[in-house]
Amino acid sequence: MNPIDGTIGDQYAGKRFPDRSQLLLGHPARSTRKTVNVSHNEVGIIVNGVTGRMGYRQHLLRSLLAIREDGGVELAGGRRVQIRPVLVGRNAEKLNDIAVKHDLAEWTTDLDAALADPSIDIYFDSQLTSARVPAVKKAIAAGKHIYAEKPIAETSAECQELITLAERAGVKNGVVHDKLYLPGLRKLRSLIDSGFFGRIFAVRGEFGYWVFEGDWVPAQRPSWNYRAEDGGGIVSDMFPHWNYVLENLFGSVQSVYARAITHIEQRVDEQGKPYAATADDAAYAVLELDGGIIAQMNSSWDVRVHRKELLEFQVDGTHGSAVVGLFGAEVQPRVATPRPTWNPDVKDDHDYLSDWQQVPETTEFGNGFRAQWEDFIRHVVEDGPHRYDFRSGARGVRLAELALQSSTTGSRIEVPADADHDQPATQNGAAASSKPAVAAV
Ligand SMILES: NC(=O)c1ccc[n+]([C@@H]2O[C@H](COP(=O)([O-])OP(=O)(O)OC[C@H]3O[C@@H](n4cnc5c(N)ncnc54)[C@H](O)[C@@H]3O)[C@@H](O)[C@H]2O)c1
Repeated sequence: MNPIDGTIGDQYAGKRFPDRSQLLLGHPARSTRKTVNVSHNEVGIIVNGVTGRMGYRQHLLRSLLAIREDGGVELAGGRRVQIRPVLVGRNAEKLNDIAVKHDLAEWTTDLDAALADPSIDIYFDSQLTSARVPAVKKAIAAGKHIYAEKPIAETSAECQELITLAERAGVKNGVVHDKLYLPGLRKLRSLIDSGFFGRIFAVRGEFGYWVFEGDWVPAQRPSWNYRAEDGGGIVSDMFPHWNYVLENLFGSVQSVYARAITHIEQRVDEQGKPYAATADDAAYAVLELDGGIIAQMNSSWDVRVHRKELLEFQVDGTHGSAVVGLFGAEVQPRVATPRPTWNPDVKDDHDYLSDWQQVPETTEFGNGFRAQWEDFIRHVVEDGPHRYDFRSGARGVRLAELALQSSTTGSRIEVPADADHDQPATQNGAAASSKPAVAAV
């Protein structure tokens, strides 16, 4: 008996979901789902990991519920497709609380049952990284289109397996590439496209903040992030981001030298218990990009912030430089560049920061996670463009692996050439997918 509402067997917990799935038990064949069904006016989405930080705040609250409240995703020609989230997780009580709070009818602790529902189109995964691959494999086998948090897997071998399985099953696939949707990085994209920089030759990325150890101030990140055995580590967490940011804005990564390290060796977990922090919590890397651009990336959970934002990139080019963060962007063109002279004998009172000019807000940028959700749903429903697939996610995981290898060996590692990488993305980004789009309204 369900401990929450006492009405349904312990396999199911949500209210509408079990009825619907029982109703569909005798559904003739999943293949019928591939045909256009004009009455199919909503996209069913399993949200697995919804009780977590990312799953709840960015994906459910800021993306899916916001989309639902606005009447769904707008498609070409102004039509809309509504979405239907089905919450999945391990803890019935937490799922029920979220469902009640947000007036959601469907939730379950039984992933297999949710996957067996043919009216569900997309499987989304924001579980902790080490739990992702088995669940994604099941979802592919169930014929669902897949959208997942990064990293899609812990190893390149697992990524390759997921790519093969997804392509063989003909399901569309996507990986969260949220940083590209940030206002600051979108302004950077415009600066690049406008030719502002001339020839770009250097990128400096500074990411990080102080994550409390958990003893006298509670840690602001989950403890698994600091345990290698649970899939933690700043390299596997952040290098997938750096890979897609660098390759989409500047050029693909040709080589990496990195030093990953655990600066804080003991932390205190959510239960107040001390544990050994076995995963790297800082990494200092030099990457060479296509076109000879040198990128330096500092990533640290042990740094006290002396920056405007928690993530900033400085980009230097022959005709101008820019510093962008999550939101802001400042530029200094060649013609407005001051001429400092080095003289340690004279105190320099020049305010160098005042030499930079703000890039004004000319567009309203929405939440980046939501924007990518909308792109992915359009991709599923009407073959809209969405380049950030498992292959892109796999390149990120590979960069993280090579960075760790570099750190262990102390050497600079070449990134192997990637046969599919240089192919221009197809307009609909779905060349490998043979599964028909979900029917639109
Ligand atoms: N795109 C981004 O900017 C971004 C930022 C942070 C995290 N992430 C990614 O999102 C994923 C989730 O991260 P998070 O910070 O939300 O983590 P979290 O610890 O807050 O949430 C983890 C979720 O996984 C579930 N889970 C399933 N099996 C579990 C197990 N055996 N042990 C613990 N939890 C289990 C939990 O119930 C919870 O819902 C990770 O893969 C992480 O890399 C992405």
